[in-house]
Order: sequence, then C-alpha cells, then structure tokens
Amino acid sequence: MRVLGLETSCDDTGVAVYDSQVGLLSHLRYSQAALHAEYGGVVPELASRDHIRKILPLVRLMLDRAEISAASINGIAYTVGPGLAGALLVGAAVGRSLALAWGVPGIGIHHMEGHLLSPMLEDDPPQFPFLALLVSGGHTLLADVQAVGQYQILGESLDDAAGEAFDKTAKLLGLGYPGGPAIEQAARSGRNGKFRFPRPMTDRPGLDFSFSGLKTACALAVTNSTLDSQAIADISAELQAAVVDTLIVKVERAIAQTGLNRVVMAGGVSANQLLRERLAQLAQRTGVTCHFPRLEFCTDNGAMIAFAGYQRLQAGQHDGPEFTVHPRWALSDLPPLRS
Ligand code: KG4
Ligand code: ZN
Repeated sequence: MRVLGLETSCDDTGVAVYDSQVGLLSHLRYSQAALHAEYGGVVPELASRDHIRKILPLVRLMLDRAEISAASINGIAYTVGPGLAGALLVGAAVGRSLALAWGVPGIGIHHMEGHLLSPMLEDDPPQFPFLALLVSGGHTLLADVQAVGQYQILGESLDDAAGEAFDKTAKLLGLGYPGGPAIEQAARSGRNGKFRFPRPMTDRPGLDFSFSGLKTACALAVTNSTLDSQAIADISAELQAAVVDTLIVKVERAIAQTGLNRVVMAGGVSANQLLRERLAQLAQRTGVTCHFPRLEFCTDNGAMIAFAGYQRLQAGQHDGPEFTVHPRWALSDLPPLRS
C-alpha cells in the first residue's frame, strides 16, 4: 500500500509518500518560518493562504522528483487536528479532493499521533508498548502507548507547552521565531549558573507539567539585566537547562511508575540536542531503550502523517466523503485500530 501524507496544521507544509513494502519513498517540507518571523509568531490567516499556494505544487514536485505516479497511490492521509482551523482546512480539503479524484480512501489524522509514531520511520523502530514523551509547540505530554490508538495520557502541561516556553522567551530576548532553535544556538555560548530558573512541578508527585512560570522567571531576568549578547546566552542556557531537567525528572518518574522499558520522544522540541543527550543518558542509567526521530522528522512533516495514515488505512479505517477539522482534539479520544 502507498499512502500520500499531507500536513498543514501550523506553519509547515509537509508532503510525503510512505510505501508499506519499501518504507518512506519521498518527502518534502516547505517552512513558512520566514513569512511569520517579522510578526514574532504564526499569523493564522497568512499560514492558511500560504498552505493554499504551496501544497499542490509541493505534491507535484515530490511525485515528479521521486518518479512516483499518482495512479500508484492507494490512500491519502491528511492532518485534521489539533492545530489552526484555517490551516487544517487546506490540507483536509486537498486530501479529501485528491481521494475523490483518484478514487482511493482518505483518512484524517491526529497531528500528535503522527509525532508519536514518527520514530517508527527509523531503521530500528520501537516495539509496543512504550512510554512516549511528546514535546511540541502546542503540547507536552507523557503517554503509555500499548498499540496504535491505545494511548493513556499519564501527564500533560497544565498551561504552556515546552516549545511555547522557548518561543515566548526567544521573543523576549529578541531572538525571533521559531524560538527553540534560536535558544539552543544562543545557549551554546551561555554560562551555567549565571541565572537560576525553577524546575516547575518537579518537587511534588505526579506527571503533569507547567511551563508558564518559566516565562515569568525569564521576563524578570530580562528586566533585571543589561541585555547584552552574553546575558542573552546565559538566560538561554538556563532556560534550556530548566526545561530539559524538568522533562527528564518526569520521564524518570514515568518509567518507574509504568515499568515500561522503552521510551520514545517526538515533537519539535525533541530536536534539542541537550534533551536528546540527557534522555539517552537517562535510558542508559535506568536500563531502558530510547528512540527518537531523525532531526527533520522531529518538527512538523508529511512523513509522520503518511505513516500514521498507513497504519489506520491498512486496518480498514477511512473517512467518508465529508470532512471536518478538529482544532482542539485530545489524543486519548482517538479510536484504537480495528483488529
Ligand atoms: O512539532 P512542532 O514542529 O509543531 C507543533 O506541533 O507545535 O514543534 C514546534 C516547536 C516550537 O515551539 C519550536 O520552538 C520547538 O518545537 N523547537 C525546538 C527546537 N526545534 C524546534 N525547541 C528546542 N530546541 C530545538 N532545537
Ligand atoms: Zn507538531
């Protein structure tokens, strides 16, 4: 089975084709980051319009480059939530229309299920069950994953997501958008211990997160400092350390609580090098295996949607001719796979 995947939930237009025999055949991503940079964050209306401009030419380019004929595609997967309503509508409308035009089944995919399954695109895919840490711009959550569609949420952010803490602080520091890579870069010349930010909710039991206080701590540090490049680097280093420490404490706790011996990390923030190193160290120390996607599949991409779509389509699941998008949609509301 060959599945075309379309991702347009936020500011990346992602397209890919996954083949059940061969694996990922091709993928392309167009980032709107430059378009939104001057506004310091994603402007939803601009995002929708740009997806409209880019998505079909990107599909065509990908198919041409990889010499894949449209007639060989057996199914189409498109993100229907969570995300920006207008942006989601573009991918869903195009996906639905192509499914109708090509006479193949189509299915709406949960964006976070795409992230969650993305490490399975790698050569050494994790086996079920596993513990998943999903860290993106909109979500921070820990889930006990028994199978595709069987997700028990163990903890999640009560306010800002980890990625949001990076994005909002980067804006305060004048580092631009998206904040995560900029903070990571600035942190390289930062000195440890020049600032001290909290590790929120690590001193009480439970697996929930809260990152909004970190933003306040950073804002205070910005107000009380002469914001030269060294101070920016020092604040970035401490923010990164605080986010990473907090995530690692909770993952260790979740490993102990669930007894799971595999950890999977995905989502945009999982591109962070310090976080990848610290998770690998934790895995080694606790005797569990850890898996994360290659860097280009940490942030939004079409490959993860094509792969999640394949999982559901091959189980006989597909949507009818009508479609709807779900800007807010809990991962735990997803149906399990039909067996
Ligand atoms: O998964 P993603 O591309 O989109 C959402 O589903 O939200 O995640 C985007 C988030 C942004 O907040 C971005 O700042 C963060 O991932 N991010 C990073 C890094 N690369 C992207 N955060 C920390 N370090 C990075 N290297
Ligand atoms: Zn995402």
